[in-house]
Amino acid sequence: MKIDSLELQRLAAAQPRLDMYTSIHKALRACMAETLVALGRADTADDAQTQSAAQRVTDLLGLCEAHLDKENKFVHAAMEARAPGSSDALAHEHVEHEAHIAQLREGAAALHDAPVSTRPLAAQRLYQALALFVADNFRHMHVEETAHNAVLWAHYSDAELAAIHDELVASIPPQELMAALRWMVPSFNAAERLGFLADVQAKAPAPAFDAILQVARAHLDDSDWHQLCTGLRLLAVPGLVQA
Ligand SMILES: [Fe+2]
Repeated sequence: MKIDSLELQRLAAAQPRLDMYTSIHKALRACMAETLVALGRADTADDAQTQSAAQRVTDLLGLCEAHLDKENKFVHAAMEARAPGSSDALAHEHVEHEAHIAQLREGAAALHDAPVSTRPLAAQRLYQALALFVADNFRHMHVEETAHNAVLWAHYSDAELAAIHDELVASIPPQELMAALRWMVPSFNAAERLGFLADVQAKAPAPAFDAILQVARAHLDDSDWHQLCTGLRLLAVPGLVQA
């Protein structure tokens, strides 16, 4: 079948573009949802459960803060360079999110340190405030994935976006990167997970790849882990598949 040039243009336009947001936003959505549920379920009469729930909130806030900083420094900077003003609205929301993060951090510390008698109230207040933060972030991330991507795709080629993303990832300290991967790897669908880890396998030093595989093993069920190992042709490696 002959395809005319207009059809080729339409097909080219329909090709998926490089999306810097999808992977990390899947990780953030998963971490936000699971942390909120864990906080809501925590038995405040139990010291360990209470402190674990408070720590999980603190860890989530650290992830959010680091992510927001990278978006400001790399993504918004790129948008402003070629479309001045295009990141204004969400940059303002980032300022609001920083204030919310500070308040939630205080709430998590208050829950962590509260005597048993006041823990139920401290937990309930933190749970409600975190729920609103999560709701606002879900909406915020959707705007980034639609309106911000439209700006990026209109002004940058995929090669340019890949270079920006590489620079962003290279700026992340190893411990922070592993914290993000802990949520990212299990939140991917199978094809995304295999594509991501095959890329790491091809480009990263073996110790870094092994460290990420350990994170994957710890947070995937047996079925997903076997599927990943098969895709990466790792089934023959002794000890790697433990299911
Ligand atoms: Fe953002």
